[in-house]
Amino acid sequence: MEYRQLGNSGLQVSTIGLGTNNFGMRLDAAQTALIVNHALDVGINMIDTANSYGKGLSEEYIGKALKGKRDQAVLATKVSSRMNEGPNNAGNSRRHIIAEVEASLRRLDTDYIDLYQIHWWDSNTPLEETLRTLDDLVSQGKIRYAGSSNFSAWHACEAAWTAQSLGVTSLVSTQPRYSMMDRVVENELVPFCQKYGVGILPYYPLENGFLTGKYRRNEDAPAGTRLAANDRGMFTDKNFDVLDGLIAFAEARDHTVLDLAFSWLLANKAVSSVIAGATKIEQVITNSKAAAWDLTTEEVDEVNGILGAN
Ligand SMILES: NC(=O)c1ccc[n+]([C@@H]2O[C@H](COP(=O)([O-])OP(=O)(O)OC[C@H]3O[C@@H](n4cnc5c(N)ncnc54)[C@H](OP(=O)(O)O)[C@@H]3O)[C@@H](O)[C@H]2O)c1
Repeated sequence: MEYRQLGNSGLQVSTIGLGTNNFGMRLDAAQTALIVNHALDVGINMIDTANSYGKGLSEEYIGKALKGKRDQAVLATKVSSRMNEGPNNAGNSRRHIIAEVEASLRRLDTDYIDLYQIHWWDSNTPLEETLRTLDDLVSQGKIRYAGSSNFSAWHACEAAWTAQSLGVTSLVSTQPRYSMMDRVVENELVPFCQKYGVGILPYYPLENGFLTGKYRRNEDAPAGTRLAANDRGMFTDKNFDVLDGLIAFAEARDHTVLDLAFSWLLANKAVSSVIAGATKIEQVITNSKAAAWDLTTEEVDEVNGILGAN
């Protein structure tokens, strides 16, 4: 496994990370423990969860799975989503963040969170209040680093500028939706992160499994898979045309389209870790090897040609 620095921070994260939004929903505690343990065994240290996944169960199951091996993991979680009824149980206010960090620490059964991410921008709370709260949590040792998710480029820019002018901890990473099939962030956010050293943690890197190659045009989706329940608009001729091009490109170089999905993202050095969810041990093992393909600039250009305009 290769490790990269998370943005400009000193934290080393595995280039392949583990997404956990299946935990507590499709996977129970025992299945979660198997996946987490296999991930650690193959050198994955980056584990990304959120207070809201499985209404807290994802964090709880991860906490159980990491018992006695907490130090092997870089544990990332998130705050912002609505956790309860009531005006103060969502968003990025001082009150909500402090209540939720305590709840996450309890569920994760740990005394520190490595990366605490603002899940969503909150236009009702002054950014200064949020950043000062995160800075306090760093000082208290409850979180080691702070990051963001679902921020636009101007959100990330305003956060960087405000943190610098206040002299408080800056957001070292951002977690946007980003894959070969969804490149909107390349217009503004990605160049911002490259220029200012903010680590990118792409989510939906496999486009919910579409980029694994297990879905084929005019064939039933394999039973029990995520897109079998709902294709999320992916099963169109246009998408399958792109997928066919990517499969042909990868296979001509003795790789799979899944290898390409990870390696194409990691060809961008601002991408610190690609966090893919997994529902089976075999998926974790396959994904852990997928970053071994070091794409050349010419190969990246050729792939971008297949993808077309973003
Ligand atoms: N910040 C945010 O707002 C946000 C939003 C969404 C997700 N996330 C984070 O990002 C992580 C990654 O996103 P994601 O897991 O939803 O999407 P994803 O990585 O694009 O897709 C994951 C799905 O692909 C399938 N898969 C994974 N590896 C495979 C393999 N080797 N072979 C075949 N199928 C494989 C599995 O689905 P099946 O087995 O079910 O087919 C798995 O559930 C999440 O777990 C979560 O931690 C963050």
